[in-house]
Amino acid sequence: MSLSHGREFLSIPGPSVMPDRVLNAMRQGSPSIYDGWLVEMVEGLTPDLMAVARTKKARPAIYISNGHGAWEATASNLFSRGDKVLALDNGRFAAGWAGMAERMGVKTEVSDEGLRGPVDPNRLEERLRKDTAGEIKAVLLVHVDTASSAANDIPAVRAAIDAAGHPALLMVDCVASLGSMPFETDAWGVDVMVGGSQKGLMTPPGLGFVWVGEKAWAMSGNGDLVSTYWDWRTRIEPEMFYQRFCGTAPVQHLFALREALNMLVHEEGIENAWARHKVLADAVRACVSAWAEGGALELNVERPEARSDVVTTILTPGMTAPGKGPQDLREFCEGKLGLILGMGIGHFGGRAFRIGHMGHVNAPMIMGTLGATEAGLHALGYDVPTGLAAAAEVIAKGA
Ligand SMILES: Cc1ncc(COP(=O)(O)O)c(C=O)c1O
Repeated sequence: MSLSHGREFLSIPGPSVMPDRVLNAMRQGSPSIYDGWLVEMVEGLTPDLMAVARTKKARPAIYISNGHGAWEATASNLFSRGDKVLALDNGRFAAGWAGMAERMGVKTEVSDEGLRGPVDPNRLEERLRKDTAGEIKAVLLVHVDTASSAANDIPAVRAAIDAAGHPALLMVDCVASLGSMPFETDAWGVDVMVGGSQKGLMTPPGLGFVWVGEKAWAMSGNGDLVSTYWDWRTRIEPEMFYQRFCGTAPVQHLFALREALNMLVHEEGIENAWARHKVLADAVRACVSAWAEGGALELNVERPEARSDVVTTILTPGMTAPGKGPQDLREFCEGKLGLILGMGIGHFGGRAFRIGHMGHVNAPMIMGTLGATEAGLHALGYDVPTGLAAAAEVIAKGA
């Protein structure tokens, strides 16, 4: 017997739950891809994508790709073989981004910023001051690292670059946080921002985005890595619609994105979406903190202000009995309860699990996830104190 028959709950940090409206929007055949309303609809995505990124200056290029593709696009457009970039890694993803650039011939320096908190702006400033020859062309980091669930203070990173008087580009990956947490491309002085469709933007995986600020635009295509497919100049300023996607447009994905942006930008409002995520994330953290009193598990990110509102990584130092580790919890929750939890990835493999709370999530979805996880912990023999009352209180106050 299994209690999983019913609507399956997907609580991983992306792909996130797709709204039915978004999925239904995809259920139409392709119109003319040469002119007419599809072309107009796609033109209309640009202002909304800029609104989500809070920019009036950085223009978005859309790729038929995932986040890795968007990463590759940044290296292709901005760098030459032998150029150097500095990646600040506090989990997994900044190092991943740098690794892709490295394979393309870019020299990379990865600063290990630990796994349990944000990157250190002071260390960055010191490092950049030493780079008197201006070798470092760009500083790469993520806004939220989906492995560690730590959120970085981007204005502090910008301030460190400015304090060092260094000309490096500031390039930020917002794949996990975009649409769900405050991010201010212009006000925070971000030169290049990277996103993907499948998390806060509530659209199926398959679209990658790069918002190109003025300084990066001016550098575009000067390097020797630019290729026809990744060149963002023709995507951002196409002479004909066909060039916007370097070939056939991903029509049904664009229908989905249009509907998702209607929901996020025009109906809920981006600031309300941020506020919703904050309350729901606070509820998750309140619940996990209560569970943690039993000693089996704990929140990974130590400083509360560095905990992201889109994913929570939960370490499991006390869940070491054979057959009762975090992966067993995940298997029980999925097989017996119909709840899919995120696994610990990278350095967190086998010693953590994650709860995703990004995109199309509301209070009952979060309470359901927490309740089923608590049941799973009990079923595995961990007599954790209940966290559900604490979560409910946060939600009651937040609403
Ligand atoms: C912060 C972050 N950046 C980049 C990526 C890579 O995106 P994708 O899996 O779409 O290639 C992910 C994926 O989870 C991510 O969480």
